[in-house]
Amino acid sequence: MVETIQWTDSGVVMIDQTKLPREITYVTCRGYLEVADAIVTMVIRGAPAIGVAAAMGVAIGALHADPDRMDEEMEGICTVLAGTRPTAVNLFWAIGRMKRLYASLRGRPVEEIRAALVAEAQRVKEEDIEINRSMGRHGAELVPDGKTVLTHCNAGALATAGFGTALGVIRAAVEAGKKIDVFADETRPFLQGARLTAWELQQDGIPTTLITDNMAGWFLRQGRIGCVVVGADRIAANGDVANKVGTYSVAVLAKENGVPFYVAAPVSTLDLTLASGDRIPIEQRPGKEVTEVFGVPVAPEGIAVQNPAFDVTPSRYVTAIITERGVARAPFEESLRRLSQQAELAE
Ligand code: MRU
Repeated sequence: MVETIQWTDSGVVMIDQTKLPREITYVTCRGYLEVADAIVTMVIRGAPAIGVAAAMGVAIGALHADPDRMDEEMEGICTVLAGTRPTAVNLFWAIGRMKRLYASLRGRPVEEIRAALVAEAQRVKEEDIEINRSMGRHGAELVPDGKTVLTHCNAGALATAGFGTALGVIRAAVEAGKKIDVFADETRPFLQGARLTAWELQQDGIPTTLITDNMAGWFLRQGRIGCVVVGADRIAANGDVANKVGTYSVAVLAKENGVPFYVAAPVSTLDLTLASGDRIPIEQRPGKEVTEVFGVPVAPEGIAVQNPAFDVTPSRYVTAIITERGVARAPFEESLRRLSQQAELAE
């Protein structure tokens, strides 16, 4: 399986997701500003992967920070990384975790602080893979055998430290012997489905069919799709789910056609400080992603454009939320609170 992100002696190495699947190239970030840039430009993307990148960004920033101004520099590093992308809460979760560790080490020798931050960032990565495996085990049971699974965007190994959330559930179902195939929405405008999900699943030999986003409703109506599984960027206390734009339409069409709609996400994607999805910040991305395809204009010059990168699916369309700690169902206020408290007890 591909290594999305690695800590190495030369820096933080990431597979360049803007070039896939045409080129398999890697970017080495030697400082936190380069890590921040890689997140903004989508060299690395996907909520859990962004969290790992941010943790490694804090660690690499600490390695180069002036020991005499450590507190101010650490604050600056965290602020820059937190300003990269607004929607995926895993980014803020990871930065918070690194900040708390730093605060607990204040007064210790600088080399000790640096080593602890590097080790913690590596732990964030390792834990993410374990979390995805365990999410896969919980989710695989829900996937109907002999049917097609529809997914949107890329919630795979590339969107995480490895194995994936939604694709982790699919991988675990295949490992459990289920005979399934996948329909992958291409996911306009950034084409995460066509470029990343289709590539990842093809590498694994999981039968996959690529469709354009506007075909999803038609296939949901045919009775062939056994369930939809997607990832999430932020889940509010009432179970509303922010995920890649287009997810909401798929969820509504799934309900209309009696197809279960599952969301696979780690507990670090829960934001129980928000009562509902109405308050989730939605990133607006450059209009060029809509008006151009690989640098070639496909719309008249000067046309008005909107490019929200995410949408919010109200929880009434969500059949269940699969986490590493178990499966949450409505009423989500209660089930998500229980899961997040379990996570706190385990920490
Ligand atoms: O803009 P992206 O590519 O970062 O958006 C990614 C998604 O919306 C994923 O579905 C989500 O982060 C879950 S990834 C496990």
